[in-house]
Amino acid sequence: MADERDERDQWKKLAAESAVTQVETGMIVGLGTGSTAEFVLLALARRIREGLRITGVPTSEHTAVRARELGIPLAELTGPIDIGIDGADEVERNKLSLIKGHGGALVREKIVAQASARFLVVVDQTKIVSRLGAAPVPVEVVPFGWQATARRIQDLGGKPERRDFVTDNGNYILDCSFGSIESPETVTVVLDHIAGVVQHGLFIGMASEVHVGGLSGVQVLLPNR
Ligand code: A5P
Repeated sequence: MADERDERDQWKKLAAESAVTQVETGMIVGLGTGSTAEFVLLALARRIREGLRITGVPTSEHTAVRARELGIPLAELTGPIDIGIDGADEVERNKLSLIKGHGGALVREKIVAQASARFLVVVDQTKIVSRLGAAPVPVEVVPFGWQATARRIQDLGGKPERRDFVTDNGNYILDCSFGSIESPETVTVVLDHIAGVVQHGLFIGMASEVHVGGLSGVQVLLPNR
């Protein structure tokens, strides 16, 4: 078990380091959240010690704290980002549609991804799937009437379970299982129309490339749009 985790960490590190090679001096860089994004922070910090000059935009309070500890200069999100680098929970290998948000930071992650000229995803090879849905889709909802929102999601085919967690935005997360998702685009439209939903973890058409760390090193996937 520990060996398996060590191996996956090694793959995450490879993916992170591969994506970070694309960062250049002067860039504004979106900093993701999660265990793979942590390897991105470590790789950026190393390059900063070697002379790279960048400004990071963190996607969570946790990432902001870690970035400060590592000496990565930060700024608030006020305009375009040159490159965003973040992890994912599942990556569909064809269009590179994603499920994100198991770390609970999906709203800021999506805002940063949308602001990024290029959005690089870093994962280990276990996250690549032919169809999304083995993992639940995290959905951030406002606390007001959250049970009614959950019921609405249930009526529309999801199985929501509230996580014991409050997001950086003061909201709740419902982990919603939809089973194998035939059309992430359809689920996106459904979720986007529920009033209590702030945002959800389906990231469609956003990934510019996915860096996959695995047994044979790093593979870079491009979307088949
Ligand atoms: C954080 O909210 C998430 O979107 C993470 O990027 C995602 O859960 C992947 O996390 P790990 O890199 O820890 O697997």
